[in-house]
Parts: sequence; structure tokens; C-alpha cells
Amino acid sequence: MTETPNESAVVVGASGGVGAALADALRASGRYASVHALSRSGTGLDLEDETSIAAAAAAVATGPAPTLILVATGVLHSGYEPERSYRTLDPEHMQRDYRINTIGPALVAKHFAPLMPRDRRGVFAALSARVGSIGDNRLGGWHSYRASKAALNMVLRNLSIELARTHPLAVVAGLHPGTVDTSLSAPFQRGVKADRLFTPEYSAASMFAVLDRLDPRDSGGVFAWDGARIPE
Ligand SMILES: NC(=O)c1ccc[n+]([C@@H]2O[C@H](COP(=O)([O-])OP(=O)(O)OC[C@H]3O[C@@H](n4cnc5c(N)ncnc54)[C@H](OP(=O)(O)O)[C@@H]3O)[C@@H](O)[C@H]2O)c1
Repeated sequence: MTETPNESAVVVGASGGVGAALADALRASGRYASVHALSRSGTGLDLEDETSIAAAAAAVATGPAPTLILVATGVLHSGYEPERSYRTLDPEHMQRDYRINTIGPALVAKHFAPLMPRDRRGVFAALSARVGSIGDNRLGGWHSYRASKAALNMVLRNLSIELARTHPLAVVAGLHPGTVDTSLSAPFQRGVKADRLFTPEYSAASMFAVLDRLDPRDSGGVFAWDGARIPE
């Protein structure tokens, strides 16, 4: 019988399509003594309320150290239509996307990354998006979402540099899950070929395979579900 290591995993956004699949897969793997499935709707961790993030981290800190922290939150539409043109830019929309897609994951890093052990491999990964790549942007549009994800990628790169000083075995990564059949992508699935629209379970399994292959030299990069590094 293999012994379950005395380590925990954390999924922030475990109520989402991708987040729920990540949490389910982690529980099924038996690799962790505990899996903390955190969310706004389920456990009260609201990315727009730093106190709730700090409280969740304090609760995790009472148990086995987290060696895997996944941030699977995000917003694309929900009340706003992603912009087709700069002419429709709305400061409230932009701020909302930055609050959820950039500042929220940064605050999760602020409160959860210090809990990672320094003497072992640990992974801090956040769901980003291919459209957050500046180098890969040929279509334009979706200004707020793209900009908030590009900024998230910078937050992750910065975190990787700083964390390497205290946690030399840590890996920080952004992940593009592919186009996944969830409420986030639902209004935009027309035109996506059936074999390119992934189930959350397939996407989660693919991303775990990618994370397993990353080492500290990869830290700070953004990787797609198939392991390909996405340009900055
Ligand atoms: N689906 C795709 O095709 C696709 C493609 C590229 C990238 N992504 C990225 O993958 C990630 C997951 O997306 P998904 O498809 O799983 O979306 P989803 O099903 O809509 O889930 C979104 C998650 O974000 C959480 N959330 C939103 N605002 C929050 C807040 N203020 N505080 C805490 N949690 C909050 C939601 O929690 P509640 O349940 O509390 O609302 C939910 O858990 C996102 O970062 C998205 O940008 C997805």
C-alpha cells in the first residue's frame, strides 16, 4: 500500500466548470492528504474580499502544507459583453475583469504561496488564457479579458522570480485549458469544432499531465493543455 504524503492541495474556484473537474481529479488521485475545494459560492472565498482570502489561507495553514495551489477562477462575460471594439470600452467592465482575473489571483498568491514548503517541489498555477498572450494576438477584440489575462501572466512571472529565492523547487505557471464546455465559454462555442471543445474532465487531466512535467526552469511561463508554451 502506498502512503498518502502529508501534503494538501488547494483549488480556488472549485465551483466552476474547470475548477470542479480539477478538484474531483485531485480527490480521486489519492495523492494528497487533503484537497481544499474553495469557492465563492461554496465556501465564501470571494476574490473581491481580501479578508475572505486571508481567512481561507489561515484555515489551510492549520493542516498539511499545500504543495499544489490551483487558481481556477475567472470571468469573461457575466453582465458584460466582451468588447469587439475599443469604441465600446467601459471602465466598469475593465475594472471588473481586472479585479477577478488579475488582482484576485495575485491576492491568492499573497496569502497562499507562503504556505508552500520550501524544501519540496510545489506548484502554484492559475488558469489564464491563450488570448492573454500579447505575441499571439492577431485577432484583437475582447479588450478587458485579454488585458486582464496578460496582466495575470505578468503577476505569475513576477511571483516566479520572487518565489525562486525562498522556494527553489517551486513552479509557478499560467495554464490555458483549451476551449472547455463550461458556462464561461457557452456563448462563444459556435464555430468551435466538436473535437476542440473539451470536457472539463479532459482539460483537467491534460493540465495535470502538463504540470507534472514542469520543473523550476519552466517557472513563470504560460502553458497550454497540450504542454506547448504560449508566447508572452
Ligand atoms: N472555458 C474555457 O473555454 C476557457 C478557455 C480559456 C481560459 N479559461 C479560463 O479558465 C478558468 C476557469 O473557467 P471556467 O470555464 O471553469 O469558468 P466558470 O465555469 O464560469 O467558473 C468560473 C469560476 O470563477 C469563480 N469566480 C468568479 N468570480 C469570483 C469571485 N469574485 N470570487 C471567487 N470566485 C469567483 C466562480 O465562482 P462562483 O461559483 O462563486 O461564481 C467559478 O468557480 C478561467 O480563468 C477562464 O478564464 C476558460
